[in-house]
Amino acid sequence: MVKIYKEENYEKLSEKAASIIASVVVLKPDCVLGLATGTSPIGTYRKLIGWYEDGLLDFSRVKTANLDEYRGLPGTHNQSYRYFMNDNLFDHVNIDKTNTNVPNGIAGSVEEECKRYDKLITDLGGVDLQLLGIGRNGHIGFNEPAEDFPKGTHLVDLTESTINANSRLFERKEDVPHQALTMGIGTVMSARKVLLIACGADKAQAIRDSFYGPITPHVPASILQLHPDVTVVCDPAALSLTPLA
Ligand code: F6R
Repeated sequence: MVKIYKEENYEKLSEKAASIIASVVVLKPDCVLGLATGTSPIGTYRKLIGWYEDGLLDFSRVKTANLDEYRGLPGTHNQSYRYFMNDNLFDHVNIDKTNTNVPNGIAGSVEEECKRYDKLITDLGGVDLQLLGIGRNGHIGFNEPAEDFPKGTHLVDLTESTINANSRLFERKEDVPHQALTMGIGTVMSARKVLLIACGADKAQAIRDSFYGPITPHVPASILQLHPDVTVVCDPAALSLTPLA
């Protein structure tokens, strides 16, 4: 079942998303959070940090597994997703860093790393809440439009549109990695709860296609229509092509 919230701006959207994550942390202090990087969740993480500073949240027993990581970037690189997570959340709350997981972008064997990551998520007992952003083409994690829905963690070649979208964060476009490791759609679908956030008109088509169109691997997020517990939090621009406009 998909529940969609319309929030008036990024601030409110971030507060709503953070309140859903906080409720999971409060109800299950040793929960497993699946986390995302990108622009969308920055405000959500900021709210969580604020509530932690106010003494309202305790992350000491929380475990995390991130969706993805660029292939070829070490965690110390300022554009790696490990660096992003430390910088935007982990360094500011009382989480035990050894309980935080991001795929290893510089593992010698990609195949072994993918297997390790899938096993790690299984050994953690699965993900309680998976936070997602969405790409303009409907991608989730780095699962790009394809002919099928990949199940487990795997290596992907990034599309030109994703490389272009991400190049804003790198000094030179040539520096943007062309490959990434990502959780599969099967793992995302196994999360007990899914929370997807989208902000801005450039996400409007993806939101409409994902939640009001047919379920197809050409729009990877559309499979979420089959998940029993999905919450989507959007600003009005992201909902502008849907009946909720
Ligand atoms: C990030 C991720 C991506 C982003 C998506 C949207 O870990 O998995 O799928 O969520 O590309 O990115 P933003 O939020 O920057 O628009």
